[in-house]
Amino acid sequence: MKIVMLYFSGSGNTAYLMRQLERQWENLSVSYQTFEMEKFQEEDVSALEDADYILFAYPVFGSMAPMIVWRFVKKYAAAFKGKKGAVVATQAVFSGDGGAYLARILKKCEMDVVSIEHFKMPSSRSDGRFFSAPSEEKKAAARKVVNQKAELYAIDFAKERFYKIGDHFSAMLLGAFQRIPFSKMERRLSKNIRFDWSRCIACGLCTEICPVDNLSLILDSKAGEPAVAQAGKCSICYRCVNQCPQKAISILGKRPPREQYKGIE
Ligand SMILES: Cc1cc2nc3c(=O)[nH]c(=O)nc-3n(C[C@H](O)[C@H](O)[C@H](O)COP(=O)(O)O)c2cc1C
Repeated sequence: MKIVMLYFSGSGNTAYLMRQLERQWENLSVSYQTFEMEKFQEEDVSALEDADYILFAYPVFGSMAPMIVWRFVKKYAAAFKGKKGAVVATQAVFSGDGGAYLARILKKCEMDVVSIEHFKMPSSRSDGRFFSAPSEEKKAAARKVVNQKAELYAIDFAKERFYKIGDHFSAMLLGAFQRIPFSKMERRLSKNIRFDWSRCIACGLCTEICPVDNLSLILDSKAGEPAVAQAGKCSICYRCVNQCPQKAISILGKRPPREQYKGIE
C-alpha cells in the first residue's frame, strides 16, 4: 500500500499529527510520502499517480477546511479523479462535519473518499478575551491521546478497515450552524487582519511565514504607521498571530494574544 499525505498546518497541530502517522506507517511497513500543500509544486503531481490512497489533513476552521486547502484541491482536481482518498481533520472541540466538508469537495473531483476522521487538539486560536495557551501538562495529555488515536487509525487504515466520521445529515446540520456565520466573518477578515502598529517593529517575520503570501513590508513606513500591507487573501491560519515576536497581530479577537499558541509540541 502506498499513501501520499497532503497537509496544511497553521500552528503545528496538524504537522504534529503527520509526524505521528509517518511513525505509524514506518512501524507497519506502509510506504508513504508527505507533502505540505503550501510547498507543493506542479512536478510533485507525478507522486500522486502511483498512490493507492491520497490522505488530506488540515485544521478545521469554523467547521470548514481552510481556504488554502480547498483552493489547493480545486487547483489539482484533475490529479484526484478516480483515486481513493482519506480526510483527516484536526479540531479543538467539535466541528460536526469538518472532515466531510472537504470530502464533499473531493467527491466533486470524482475522488472515492473512503475514510474521514477527526483528531482533537488544543485550539490554535489565541487572540481575544477568552483564549489562553494550554499549559505544558495539558499539551502533554493531548499528545498522549493523539498518539494513541493515531496508532489505532493507522492500524485500521493499513488493514483497509475504513470509517467515515461526520458524514451524515445531522453532522452536516451541526457543522452548518458554525459554518454559516464563520464563512461571512472569514470573507471580511481575510481582507483585513488587525495589526497593533504601536507594537509592530517591521521585522518582516509575518511576511515570510504567511502560507498564502498575503503580507508584504512597507519599507518607507515610520514608527507607529502601518508597516505591513495586506493582499486581502488571508487564510485565517493564525500562524502570524502565534509567531509575531511583538504579539502585534490579531484576527478574530480585537486584542492581540496575551500568550501565543506555539503548537502541541
Ligand atoms: C480561525 C479558527 C477557527 C477554528 N474553528 C474551529 C472549529 O470550528 N471547531 C473546532 O473544534 N476547532 C476550531 N479551531 C481550532 C483548530 O481547528 C485546531 O486548533 C487545529 O488543530 C489547529 O491546527 P494547526 O495547528 O495545524 O493549524 C479553529 C481555529 C482557528 C484558528
